[in-house]
Formats: sequence, structure tokens, C-alpha cells
Amino acid sequence: MSNVGTFTVEDGIGVISIDSPPVNALGINVRRALDEGFRKFTADDSIKAIVLICGGRTFFAGADISEFGKPMQEPGLADVFDIIENGTKPVVAAIHGTALGGGYELALICNYRIAVPSAKVGLPEVNLGLLPGAGGTQRLPRIVGVETALQIMTTGAPVPAKKAFELGMIDALAEEGKLKEDAVAFARKLVAEGKKPVRVRDRQDKVEPSRGHPEIYDAFRAKNARAFRGFKAPWNIIKAIEASAELDFDAGMVREGELFRDLMEGTEALAQRTYFFAERETAKVPDVPADTPIIPVKSVGIIGAGTMGGGITMNFLNAGIPVTLVEMTQEALDRGVGVIRKNYENTAKKGRMTAEQVEQRMALVTPVLGLEALANVDLVIEAVFEEMGVKKDVFGKLDKICKQGAILASNTSFLDLDEIAAATSRPEWVVGLHFFSPANVMRLLEVVRGAKTSNSVVSTAMKLAKTISKVPVLSRVCNGFIANRIMSQRGRQSDALVFEGPTPAEIDKAIYDYGFAMGPFQMIDLVGLDVIGRGETERTVRGDLVKMDRLGQKKNGGYYDYDEKRNATPSPIAAGLIADIAKSKGINSSGSIPADEIVARLLYPVVNEGAKVLEEGIAIRASDVDVAAILGYGWPVYTGGPMFWADTIGLPKIVAGLEAMGIEPSKLLKSMAAEGKTFTRG
Ligand code: 3HC
Ligand code: NAI
Repeated sequence: MSNVGTFTVEDGIGVISIDSPPVNALGINVRRALDEGFRKFTADDSIKAIVLICGGRTFFAGADISEFGKPMQEPGLADVFDIIENGTKPVVAAIHGTALGGGYELALICNYRIAVPSAKVGLPEVNLGLLPGAGGTQRLPRIVGVETALQIMTTGAPVPAKKAFELGMIDALAEEGKLKEDAVAFARKLVAEGKKPVRVRDRQDKVEPSRGHPEIYDAFRAKNARAFRGFKAPWNIIKAIEASAELDFDAGMVREGELFRDLMEGTEALAQRTYFFAERETAKVPDVPADTPIIPVKSVGIIGAGTMGGGITMNFLNAGIPVTLVEMTQEALDRGVGVIRKNYENTAKKGRMTAEQVEQRMALVTPVLGLEALANVDLVIEAVFEEMGVKKDVFGKLDKICKQGAILASNTSFLDLDEIAAATSRPEWVVGLHFFSPANVMRLLEVVRGAKTSNSVVSTAMKLAKTISKVPVLSRVCNGFIANRIMSQRGRQSDALVFEGPTPAEIDKAIYDYGFAMGPFQMIDLVGLDVIGRGETERTVRGDLVKMDRLGQKKNGGYYDYDEKRNATPSPIAAGLIADIAKSKGINSSGSIPADEIVARLLYPVVNEGAKVLEEGIAIRASDVDVAAILGYGWPVYTGGPMFWADTIGLPKIVAGLEAMGIEPSKLLKSMAAEGKTFTRG
């Protein structure tokens, strides 16, 4: 009897049950329990078949990621897998929750897989910068064929049980809530029918047709080149899957091992693994006790049905929470509700929602004029114009209208939350909920904690984020909070750098090649030059472009000119303005500079601002800054975010780089560099 494993005999079937909270990761204790259980039942001649099942909320969630990078304690995963695969009794994996990564690979080692309909199975290692390294790349293609295997492993998306059954990834569906009984009955039937263990490794039928067809992989690479850009894992996954068709099983396993180690030893995997834990860490607030009462949020009021209000509303409708949506005019209200409906209908057109679901969600919105309708909601989110006067007026009114105990939130991007809170008589109930655009898509939610915000309100906001599928990052009040504040440094530097020689297009390319979806000038053109103002007092390129009505893609071009298909070419008008202003400032162009220097010029100041945000206590931890940059601005996850990236480069080098630019490094950055410390590497 192990502390995480229970081994019982039911109806002549050996049942190995593992319960290792929270997610039955395959750490050393679980591996020992599996080893013990399988040895026990293998040696017992009265046992004719074995069922492997998990307690708690899920089947095995994969290898224990916290063990990566450390020496593997025996028995390793491969040792346990060997015992199962070489066994002479049929083994049935009984799956509930999620069988992921090493967890699904373990299921593939078993001879049969049965799952409840709510279960999901998949190989998400790609999200950790890895590939399935316990035989998944060799076994899954033998069940579903290389093309489906390529799709499943390079996206990492879990496959719902019903679909998995259709694909052959599981062999039977159990009744919800009756997994053990059904799995034991399944095993008994195998015994009764005299079935011998069948091994996935022995199957050839699904991979054979792909043998000698390298064009399958070339086409897949070409089709996904953009999506895989910058990542290493998808490319290695493709090679490993190709090996499943081209090599015999054992040689394929050797190839998988080489490709796995190649990834495991790289910085990307460390960055993505660090990010995995960082994303789960953000909700933990050290000075807010875990047992702080959570305020139930069963109804929400949203003020403003513009760009943000509409997207924010969708998050709650998706989570089944009714929303009262408030506007100033019927026209604005109709337009806002119309956009929400259109978004859902577009999703339905793509087959990702049914028409019925569209109506169900729309039925949860109550569009109204006037704040009075918000008297009884549990949470109000204000998303009106970004003007302090307007916000204070709204909050003053909410204070009079809303019930006691309602949370009053603002979606402000830059304004002082404490000043907004002071317009009410209950600042402890006021919090910032800063969504990113498009609010129904972007996963970051900055929870802004005002000077007086209560612990309960903070805790509730952090929990609510999860309910609406967001990742919360807690910020104190400052101009721009975390993501906008640190990333505005990139904008400031790019604006200055164009006068020194590199063109907007060269700067954009360097940032794109670093891994962002687009460069700073492409982004400004997309969002609109009039939207991203920096409160300039002197003559700027942007200011001049706005005066010329060159507001970006939406009007006459901006830094680029656009044809009717939105293809961009660098604008001679913008180039002329840059040259003119550089001359008036007395800056001599030094011509092009190397891409890595452009990256340093733009991104070292972001790191510096991240350090300031930590030094001032705006962010709780460096990894929160990374999560905010990755989820809010698409900072490439394989670099780990600005603070992790700075550690990769070395803090002394960042300090020296900043000083060479004439930028004063933050005190924290300097002291950490001097002491040989890192932000994220413990
Ligand atoms: N190893 C170690 N810890 C893990 C873990 C894992 N594989 N999976 C989850 N955890 C931890 C989380 O860090 C979290 O810890 P915390 O409570 O201290 O913050 C806790 O388990 C709960 O996790 P979630 O908050 O994510 O719980 P959810 O219920 O929201 O989600 C889940 C559950 C879907 C299983 C999700 O945790 C998940 O996706 N886990 C990772 C799955 C994965 O990537 N597996 C592949 C691992 S790599 C591998 O198997 C290599 C092999 O091919 C050799
Ligand atoms: P928007 O101009 O698209 O929408 C604002 C809406 O509020 C308008 O429809 C307007 O009619 C309505 N409104 C104004 N005063 C009102 C009142 N008193 N009562 C009811 N409705 C009122 O603006 P957007 O972009 O949606 O921004 C809203 C807020 O969200 C701002 O504070 C902004 O800083 C913030 N924000 C904006 C982001 C963006 O990318 N657009 C990102 C994150 C936050």
C-alpha cells in the first residue's frame, strides 16, 4: 500500500487507483505507486486484467513539471511504462478529467482506454516548449495517422472524449459518474473473450500510407510557418512524427528521445515552463489571506457599450452571468448590442457555436439607458470615455444608486483609480478591472488595487478573473499600471530612434523578428494615430501625421501607405517628416543599425521600467510583469517575458546597455546586477 496508490481486486480485476492532488502529476511518489501496483498484480496469477484509474479531479495531468531540470529519481517514467507494456494481462486506462501529456502517453501504453464523456485527452507539451517524450510522438500516429497527430501535437489542444472516441484515441465511452464500474466491466469482458493485450506500438496500418511521403511534412510546415515562427518545439514535433512513419518503433523512440532532449536543454523550454507556473502564481496575493471572504457575483452592470464595454460584456455572457448594459443614447446602445450579436453570429458561422447558443447568450443582456437600473447588481464595470470628469460623475452617481456591498470597478487605462474612488463614499469597494482590447479575446486582466480597496474585493476580483477565463495580474495605482506602463517605453524609444537612422520599417522588422506579432509603427497604424497619444508638447512625427489626417490604416495611411488589400509600403511622407524633424532637432542620421541593437534600444528600457514597477511595489513579483507583457502585448512567450529575458541576457549587460543609451537604470536593477541576482531564476 503506497500513500498515493490503492490496489484492490474487484470482480477478479486488479484496480490500481492513484490519488495525488492536485492533478495526479507523474512525480516520484506516483511513479513508485504505479511500479508497486503493476508489480503486485502482475505477480498475482488470480488477476487476469488490470484497470488503472485516478481519484480526485483528473486522470494524470502529465509528467511533474516541477521535477524538470532536476536529476530523475528512479523509477523513471520509462521504467514504469516498460512494466506495463511488457505485461501479459490486458490493462485498461479509465479516464476522467484530463489525460494530458505523460498522462495520455501512459494511457497509450495501456492496452485499452475508456473515458467518461466529460473527459479530455491530449498532448500539450508544445505549450511547455517540449514534445511528448514518453512515446506519444510514436504511438499517437499509430492510432490516428500522421496528419491528425501533427495537428493534435503542434496545437497541444485537448480533444474532448467524444471526438477522441471517433478518432480512436479512446476505445470506449463510460457513463458519466460510473467510470470504475464500466472500466471493470470492460476488463471483465476482455477476460471473458480471451483477449490478449494489444499494443499500440505493434500497429502499422495508420502510419504505413504516409511512409516515404516527405511532402506531407513540408506542406504542414509551410502551412503553419507563421504560427510556429520563433518556436522550436513544433518543428521538432514534426520531425518526431515523421520518424514514426519512417522508422521502426524502437528507432523512432530513440529519435523522439534525441529531439526531446534537444528541446529540454534549450532556453525556450525553461522560459515556457517558468511561464506555466508564473501564470498560475499571479492569483496569489501574499498579504491577502487565502480564507478572505469572496463576494458572490451573480449579476453585472457594464457602463458604456463602446469598444471595451461590448467585449467585457461578452466575457460575462460566455460565463452565463447576466449583464445590464448601460449607454447614454438609444443609438449607442443599439450599436453596442448589435456588435455583440454580430461577434457571436460570426463565431456561429465558423461552426464554433450553435444558433441556439447565440440566442442563449444574447438573452442574458439587458440593454438600458440610465444608471438607475444598476441598483441591485453585484458588480459594476465602468467603461465610459477616458476622462476623469466623466468617470467621477459616473462613480458619484453609482455611489447613490448601487446597493451596499456592490463592487464598483473602472476599466480605466491610465487614470488615477484613487481619485475615481474618492468620488464615492465607499472607496474600499472600488477596484480597477483593466481589460485589454479586444476584451473578449485577450486573456490578461489587470486588477488594480486602490489605496483603500478591501481584501475581499481584491480576492473576489482575482477569483472572478478565472470565472471569465482571464489571467489576473494585480497592480497598484500608477500611470498605465503594469503592461501599458512598461510597454510605453518601447513606443518612446522607437519614436526617438527613427531620427537616428533606422526607418520605421527597419524597426518594425527587428521587433517582428524578435517575435512580436508586429512592430510599434505597424501597431500604431493599426490602432490609429489619434488613439495612441503620448501627450506630446513638442513637434512629433505622429502629431504631424495626425494633422495631415494620416491616422493609420483607417485613413490615408500613417507611417505606411496601404493599398486596397491592406498591403503596406513605407510612406515617403512619413520619411520626409522624420528627416525634417531630425534636422530641426539637429540629430544626424547614422544610417541603419543592426537588428539586435534596435531590439536592445527598444526593449532594455522596458526591462528597466519593469524593475521600477517592482521597486515601487506596483507589481508583486517579476513573473507577474512577464505575464502582463506576454498576455497584454504578445511578448513572445519563448523568451519568457521581459524580466526572464533580461535574466537570459544578464543583468549587468542590461545595466551597461541602458547607461550607454543615457538612461538611468533603476536602483533595483543596478543592485541586482551588482549582487549577481536574477529576477526569475530563483
Ligand atoms: N506538473 C506539476 N504541477 C502541475 C502540473 C504538472 N503537470 N499540472 C498542474 N500542476 C499544478 C499547477 O501548477 C497548480 O499548482 P498550484 O495550485 O500550486 O498553483 C495545480 O497543479 C493546479 O493546476 P491548475 O490551476 O492549472 O488547475 P486546473 O484545474 O485549472 O487545470 C490541468 C488542470 C488542465 C491539468 C492543468 O493544470 C494543466 O494543463 N496542466 C499541465 C498539463 C501538461 O502540460 N502536461 C504535460 C506535462 S509535460 C509531460 O508530460 C512530458 C512528457 O511528455 C514526458
Ligand atoms: P469608446 O469611446 O469606444 O466607448 C465609450 C462608450 O461609453 C461610448 O459608447 C459612450 O457612449 C459611452 N458613455 C460615455 N459616457 C457614458 C455615461 N455617462 N453613461 C453611459 N455610457 C457612457 O471607448 P473605449 O475604447 O471602449 O474605452 C472605454 C474605457 O476603457 C476607457 O476608460 C478606456 O481608457 C478604457 N480602455 C480602452 C482600451 C482600448 O483599447 N480601447 C483598452 C483598455 C481600457
